[in-house]
Amino acid sequence: MTELSRATVLGTGTMGPGMGAVLARAGLQVTLFDVNPEALERAQGMVGMVEGVLDRLEVPKRDGGGVSYESERAAALDSTDVVAEAIPEQLKLKRQTFLEIEDEISPETIIASNTSGIPATKLAQGLQRPERVIGWHWSNPPHLIPMNEIIPGEQTSPEVTNAIQQLTRRIGYHPVTLKKEVPGFVENRVLYAIMRECLALVDEGVIDLEGLDLNVKWGIGYKLAVVPPIQLLDMAGLDIYTSVAGYLNRDLSDEKGVSKTAADLKDKGRLGIKTGGGFFDYTPERIKELQQQRAAALVAVRKALD
Ligand SMILES: NC(=O)c1ccc[n+]([C@@H]2O[C@H](COP(=O)([O-])OP(=O)(O)OC[C@H]3O[C@@H](n4cnc5c(N)ncnc54)[C@H](O)[C@@H]3O)[C@@H](O)[C@H]2O)c1
Repeated sequence: MTELSRATVLGTGTMGPGMGAVLARAGLQVTLFDVNPEALERAQGMVGMVEGVLDRLEVPKRDGGGVSYESERAAALDSTDVVAEAIPEQLKLKRQTFLEIEDEISPETIIASNTSGIPATKLAQGLQRPERVIGWHWSNPPHLIPMNEIIPGEQTSPEVTNAIQQLTRRIGYHPVTLKKEVPGFVENRVLYAIMRECLALVDEGVIDLEGLDLNVKWGIGYKLAVVPPIQLLDMAGLDIYTSVAGYLNRDLSDEKGVSKTAADLKDKGRLGIKTGGGFFDYTPERIKELQQQRAAALVAVRKALD
């Protein structure tokens, strides 16, 4: 397969604009499309903001790259090599969209879905060419987290997997390819295991919210960024691990439902930053401040770890 040179990002909400800006930086001609004209309009500002962050990260700007915005889907897909799909996480919507776009793309065009956990095998059902569909899971914020999960479906061709691995390397990210499809893939399985235990500790009254965040940030988060889990097991010693896991695993949360505290907040409309409050309260000024602080810290940490 020749090098991919044109990409179309479908969906310009939280993830699409950052993905598009990163791909353009690596020299691809990127077209962004959204069914919602306001989202497409907002994407222009987001791409500008992301470009500033990429400058601070000193990400090289390859020749030939650029971003354009298109409100007609067929025009956005014209002569594209890869569709990076970032529309809402609904199986029916993604599947319907893939069925429709098959008539608007060339037979070789790859359909790479940024789904957080739906298997490509399911997304490809009913397509004329299911071998072109693959999971390509970016982490949020997509312009800052340099790791993509690649999840081939049962019918995905090795050429398609290879092309997405190469493209991931080309944008300077680490491709991590799964050997089989599991719900939530790897990143979200690990994250949700952490979240389940954190919320169980809060629900059981073991610790308050601020204490929990401090504990995990410095006790686990900071350390894991430098010494990841398997290396940490070797560092701690497998005698220590097996003896602690021997009694502790039995006591850890195995909650099959959802945390009561989180569910109650959700029912009250407290969804987090997007509604001005979730576990904590946020003023518009605080939200802006947090966004800037977090982006700056992620840039600094990534530079330190590179
Ligand atoms: N937000 C995250 O943290 C995150 C992280 C990793 C992966 N993902 C995945 O990425 C995908 C997108 O998530 P998001 O958070 O950016 O969603 P979002 O809701 O912020 O944005 C989705 C965009 O898609 C548009 N859209 C809806 N239907 C469309 C269609 N048929 N064609 C084109 N555009 C359409 C919407 O108007 C909206 O602007 C989901 O599959 C999600 O699971 C999200």
